Amino acid sequence: MSIIFSGIQPSGNLTLGNYLGALRNFSKLQDANECYYCIVNQHAITVPQDPQLLHERTRQLAAIYIASGLDPQKATLFVQSEVPEHVQLGWIMITSSYVGELERMTQYKDKASKRGDSIPAGLLTYPPLMAADILLYQADYVPVGDDQKQHMEITRDLAQRFNRLYGDVFKLPQILLGHDGTRVMSLQEPTKKMSKSDSNTTATIYLLDDPKDIEKKIKRAQTDSLNTVRYDTDCQPGISNLIEILSAVTDQSHEDIEKAYEGKGYGAFKKDVADAVISVLEPIQQRYHQLVGDPELDAILDEGAKKAHAKANVTYVKACRAMGLYRK
Ligand code: TYM
Repeated sequence: MSIIFSGIQPSGNLTLGNYLGALRNFSKLQDANECYYCIVNQHAITVPQDPQLLHERTRQLAAIYIASGLDPQKATLFVQSEVPEHVQLGWIMITSSYVGELERMTQYKDKASKRGDSIPAGLLTYPPLMAADILLYQADYVPVGDDQKQHMEITRDLAQRFNRLYGDVFKLPQILLGHDGTRVMSLQEPTKKMSKSDSNTTATIYLLDDPKDIEKKIKRAQTDSLNTVRYDTDCQPGISNLIEILSAVTDQSHEDIEKAYEGKGYGAFKKDVADAVISVLEPIQQRYHQLVGDPELDAILDEGAKKAHAKANVTYVKACRAMGLYRK
């Protein structure tokens, strides 16, 4: 049995990218492993959030986790801010980090470049907090999307650096990419990843989108004039993205999809992609709407925080003792 940890930010409406890249793998792991899944609301506040919205999205994300198949009897589901060891170990990880390595993170560079002179310091110290999340649970594997590779590398670097200085405290976690590392791209700018925070909402399929909107967005997805369904991310990034989506949703290989659409136009292909996406998302949406107002959700999160705290505290105390952060 391995230990699994992952997290999602409650910073916007979840996208098909979040689902295919991460979320749907979570429930596959819960039968045979000890799993911790976190709503990382303290990562979300590294950029300003509306307090009421953040509160609502935290609960909505819990409902989405469960609607996507997470079973709270098997996996521990909790909110990051309810387990204080995350920021406590996060601080220790910040003190083990170098400014240079944090400044080299591509997500930091992307986000910071949009903020002029007012770059929140939390954007820079985001990766050490993420390292703390993972290391507290002594996780073996971290199921995330392809875009989190660099954050996983620095997590391992920080763990190794700490262990070298203070003794063996942390296990070195490995990244676990689902379905050969599905990376869902924007429907309008297919060289950029599909993102919760994209201001162009037609570029993004949200998990809770109405089926009609999903169909419309896929129909209008940017393609090319070559009129062949072929996986070639350089020459046909839009079509390749749709192949990738169809492949992830139906478990067909890229080659099988190319063969199936030989001689057919983009219209028929897009219609099938839309139908396949809708058939996966509709049942999740139905379960979500039943769950989101249910008081049982609070009981699940209360219980999850208790279990997570018990596990996290063991590692945190060990790290503090190793560093001399104790009195008796
Ligand atoms: P977040 O909230 O941005 O995204 C949650 C998960 O969704 C994946 N993802 C994608 N996968 C494929 N294609 C896409 N277009 C796409 N967009 C998002 C992400 O890779 C991620 O797995 N830093 C993390 C949150 C975090 C975390 C952690 C994750 C904080 N602490 C500890 C794992 C372990 C993030 O920003 O996720």
